[in-house]
Amino acid sequence: MINIAIFASGSGSNAQKIAEHFQGSSDIRVSLILTNNPTAFVLERAEKLDIPSHIFNRETFYKSTDVVDVLKNNNIDFVVLAGFMWLVPGYLVEAYPNKIVNIHPALLPKFGGKGMYGDHVHNAVKQAGVKETGITIHYVNEHYDEGNIIFQSKCEVVENDTPQTIAEKVHALEYQHYPNVIEEVILKSLKNS
Ligand code: GRF
Repeated sequence: MINIAIFASGSGSNAQKIAEHFQGSSDIRVSLILTNNPTAFVLERAEKLDIPSHIFNRETFYKSTDVVDVLKNNNIDFVVLAGFMWLVPGYLVEAYPNKIVNIHPALLPKFGGKGMYGDHVHNAVKQAGVKETGITIHYVNEHYDEGNIIFQSKCEVVENDTPQTIAEKVHALEYQHYPNVIEEVILKSLKNS
């Protein structure tokens, strides 16, 4: 069994879709959900999905390697970031080389980097007047949104779109693709190991 851990800071709708995607699988499952936010709705989703959760704080995350201990104690093989707001520290990237992926709600390298998360991204897309946006799934390194790109998918931005309607279109793309891309990446990494 391959065990996935998902890191999320907020609602966790992607976390839920990913967990549901693997519910029928006998090879891969989401076995832990981690958050930096004790009031994140993702914790309620985890409970409903019957997936254990773990909350950590800034001090633990940046000044110790406790989170890696938690992952290792839970036999985690692969890490998925889904709406996780904090920069991943080097020790975590090194503990899971090429085994941490993130989804960014725009077409990187545009509209990425520090401070570019959630609605900030969709506001920036709207203000820039671009004709398309989308999602980027990428490996995670120690810099915001800079790891190698694995997959992108686009949607149109029309004049009447607001940051909210853009967010809805992007979320739909995330739900459609993120679980499948995670599955493909895991299967590929197994073949190469
Ligand atoms: C998603 O749009 C994701 O791409 C971004 O944050 C949002 C999280 O949404 N990084 P949710 O918590 O999965 O509902």
